[in-house]
Amino acid sequence: DKDVYILGIESSCDETAASIVKNGRESLSNIIYSQIEIHQPYGGVVPEVASRNHIKKIDIIVDKALEESGLTLNDMDAVAVTYGPGLIGSLLVGLSFAKALSYSVDIPLLGINHIEGHICANYINNYHVMPPFITLVASGGHTNIVVVKDYGVYEVLGQTRDDAAGEAFDKISRSLDLGYPGGPAIDKAASKGDSSFINFPRSYLEEDCFDFSFSGLKSAVLNYLNTCKMKEIPIETNNIAASFQAAVIDVLASKVIKAALDTQISTICLSGGVARNSLLRSTLGTMTSDLGLKLHFPEPDLCSDNAAMIASAGYFKFIKEEYSHFDLNAIANLKV
Ligand code: KG4
Ligand code: ZN
Repeated sequence: DKDVYILGIESSCDETAASIVKNGRESLSNIIYSQIEIHQPYGGVVPEVASRNHIKKIDIIVDKALEESGLTLNDMDAVAVTYGPGLIGSLLVGLSFAKALSYSVDIPLLGINHIEGHICANYINNYHVMPPFITLVASGGHTNIVVVKDYGVYEVLGQTRDDAAGEAFDKISRSLDLGYPGGPAIDKAASKGDSSFINFPRSYLEEDCFDFSFSGLKSAVLNYLNTCKMKEIPIETNNIAASFQAAVIDVLASKVIKAALDTQISTICLSGGVARNSLLRSTLGTMTSDLGLKLHFPEPDLCSDNAAMIASAGYFKFIKEEYSHFDLNAIANLKV
């Protein structure tokens, strides 16, 4: 059996990334150029600025990924690229670049769903994680509980009805003046705070429901901050951050555990930027070991946006010959 080398390209938001992955799991290079500092003054990602910066960097990043892997474009078996969901202008940069590469060396093009990519991050540099497993995909734009029945076969059990978990972190961080991106800032502040300071509401929605809603929690925190300002009560940033974080993590952890128990699937994997959260990792670590379940999460850099996860998802399409055509378009609101 011949080894398969996939070039992955990711540009859906504010990271320009390229990676070479061997046989779906072995990352030979994983180059990530983050635009965070460019967007920080605006408190969030500015779409037009993001696409322009992708254009400036994409060729350099792809060259670097090839160089670091010790291979050339001619050694690649296919090029995998995110075509959604994400910012349309940003997606189009990666997609157009990938099409051109695919055409120039005559290798298949593989269009990848970014959320599927996040799930496949669990396979990178790991030879034990394999379907079936339950995954929580929690990022800036998505919060889903998904059953991974087989490679590339997914069943969505639940999703957010309003804000994504990461989005809630980002918004609350902004109101606490902790800056962008909010997840890491709140995680850090919370580690110095008391999570029992305020009992913010936990929204579990209907019984047996795997959907999420974070807008009520967000309003509760904002109302509390407004009351503090009106009554001139000092704002205890670390304690509020810790109380907010605990409310989000309680709901995420209990629903993903329930999904594993209900489906009788014994492995839980975490994916997406929020999977970096230290309380989520430790809470689920304890809960899964108490229940005899297995827990896996990718290393931090593979939880956030990267192209190794896109190349891995591409590999599982490549071996089934699920190639894309050159008329593939970017889809901003693509679903799992
Ligand atoms: O997956 P990702 O890098 O990009 C998207 O596809 O959205 O996720 C970014 C999100 C942001 O909302 C960020 O605040 C959140 O992940 N995040 C975290 C942590 N690190 C990043 N949320 C909570 N705790 C963290 N440590
Ligand atoms: Zn992402």
